[in-house]
Amino acid sequence: MFKDYFGSEPQVRAQAPGRVNLLGEHTDYNDGFVFPTPLVYQTQVEASPSERVEAYAERFGEFRSRELGEGAQGDWLDYVAGCVWALRQAGLEVGGLRAYVTSQVPAVGGLSSSAALEVAVIRALRELYRLPLDDVQVALLAQKAEVEYVGVRCGIMDQMASSAGRPGQALFLDTRSLESDLVPLPEGYRVVVLDSGVPRRLAESGYNTRRAECEEAARLLGVKALRDVGLQDLPEVEALPEPVNRRARHVVTENARVLEGIEALRRGDVQRFGELMYASHASLRDDYEVSIPELDELVEVARKHGAIGARLTGAGFGGAAVALIKAEDFERFKSDVLKDYPKAQVF
Ligand code: GLA
Repeated sequence: MFKDYFGSEPQVRAQAPGRVNLLGEHTDYNDGFVFPTPLVYQTQVEASPSERVEAYAERFGEFRSRELGEGAQGDWLDYVAGCVWALRQAGLEVGGLRAYVTSQVPAVGGLSSSAALEVAVIRALRELYRLPLDDVQVALLAQKAEVEYVGVRCGIMDQMASSAGRPGQALFLDTRSLESDLVPLPEGYRVVVLDSGVPRRLAESGYNTRRAECEEAARLLGVKALRDVGLQDLPEVEALPEPVNRRARHVVTENARVLEGIEALRRGDVQRFGELMYASHASLRDDYEVSIPELDELVEVARKHGAIGARLTGAGFGGAAVALIKAEDFERFKSDVLKDYPKAQVF
């Protein structure tokens, strides 16, 4: 705790959750639709004002400190310092902070532990410096910190899920307008995370290549972003050169799956939602090529043991899958999955 480490009470306490994305993968940087839900696992930031950016991270058992205005150094403090930097860049009057960080968000690829940290830090700064920021502004500043300070070219999904998501609901987000709607998760079902145990490999270069391929597809199709291409345009999409045609086909069909999936949930058709999750995985595996054999295997294991739907979640290249199951089946499902895939973490 802050008090034990720094010897005084913190002035503020804030927290923010990680997320798992149910549908709409690699659509956010194409101005498309996403459908994530916050995890119950949160990151907590206890903080007081300081002239510097200094923090102790319990997970790493490490204290780090830097001057205001110092650039990124490739360590975990970048995510804290980046938030202070982003707020100051936006013209907000903030100084530094002294923070004590704890987190229950599993350090598993695909669950947005970085967005949870950023949003928690900005919520703490908002309270410390009495800033008039709403959930969307918090998310945008968190993304700015990650893209411009840390140097990871992410979309807006993770920060919006963490900032504007609510427990027990999924966030239907239009990443172009940033309008969002909370959709209750179906009662009697459970969203399960299945970690493959495989760390993400070459995720950053793969991610950036996919982004560039999508931009190329949009340029060739003469649209601002692939969001502006619909299922009716698939013949033109398929006529694009390889592999840009398949990358674009994933984005176009994935956007359509999000819209259909939300309609399905609204009319209580959980089965259909599950089919769309499986279809999303196939598209990420075959067209977008961001899966790995272990995630494909895990999704098939989930299917074999009765998951209504399952797919890789987050950027891919390793990390976790998500499954939707009947809540009452959880213990049985977990032990069956572990028999076939002992390396998994199921929660
Ligand atoms: C990462 C990024 C998100 C999004 C997903 C893929 O999680 O941070 O912005 O692009 O990958 O859907």
